[in-house]
Amino acid sequence: MQLIQNGRDLTQAVAQARSLGKKIGFVPTMGALHQGHMALVKKAEETCDFVVVSAFVNPLQFGEGEGFEDYPRTISVDARLVTDQGADVLFAPGVNDVYPKDVEIKKLIAGPIGQAFEGTIRPGHFDGMLTVVSRLFDMVTPDQVFFGEKDAQQVALVAKLLRDQIVSGERSPIKLVVCDTVRDADGLALSSRNRRLSKDQLEVAKTIYPALLAGSRAGPSAAKITDAAKAKLDPAAKLEYLELVDPQSFTPVPSTLPTPTRLIISVRVGEIRLIDNLLIDGTE
Ligand code: PAJ
Repeated sequence: MQLIQNGRDLTQAVAQARSLGKKIGFVPTMGALHQGHMALVKKAEETCDFVVVSAFVNPLQFGEGEGFEDYPRTISVDARLVTDQGADVLFAPGVNDVYPKDVEIKKLIAGPIGQAFEGTIRPGHFDGMLTVVSRLFDMVTPDQVFFGEKDAQQVALVAKLLRDQIVSGERSPIKLVVCDTVRDADGLALSSRNRRLSKDQLEVAKTIYPALLAGSRAGPSAAKITDAAKAKLDPAAKLEYLELVDPQSFTPVPSTLPTPTRLIISVRVGEIRLIDNLLIDGTE
């Protein structure tokens, strides 16, 4: 595994792999890696010959007071995990490599999907996320990219970004692979934020997934689904949103029928925001 910390070395490593006919897989992350991230890396290795994992805490996607400075930076642990998983490159660039002063970086706007839910709570977050994702795609030039369903709104936005850029001829085709959410034994979706939960808060957080499951069984009406989910959620979890939405457009829908829908949730446990979601297949 090569640890690469600047764009020039990355371009060289990728060009060499490509000259050998290798298919390039890319897993963008902000580091602080856990088994959720590693599942993406594993998936990338199954279908690609050269796997790049990036670890970059993107200042553009953090608002005021959203903890950019405090975001865990655990590069040596990350390097060990990526090595053990057998990926080829851990790309951990500095801010000046991703946003060099002499290169004009196109700032992307997320549009309507980016203004709901996470976008309402974190204004500008998705603009910053899309900007860095597009920039990293330019730098890595992958054939396939791997994202987690855990951040379903992010996936919907990246899918749209790729569709738009590929259709307009701005970018060569890239396949988006979406990977299942990795959960702990109690169903709690793995997240770097979980390590900040106290023992009591962890118990509260563990009611999120059972709430989603209870909701998914209470359909087809959205009202019944959200009521059933709320009833399962520990009252100490402060609900930010709980909604049944169209998986692509993220607009609320009144029922699971006839198409698949997604039940999305965000709660605050103490100061810690946790998000999760579940796809509900309307055909069941
Ligand atoms: P980060 O939060 O580090 O997540 C990196 C990738 O890991 C995302 O695609 C996310 O959905 C996935 N992931 C996180 N937890 C997961 C879990 N429990 N199971 C499966 N996948 C999981 O998302 C970002 O970084 C950033 O916004 C980024 C795309 C890197 C742009 O800066």
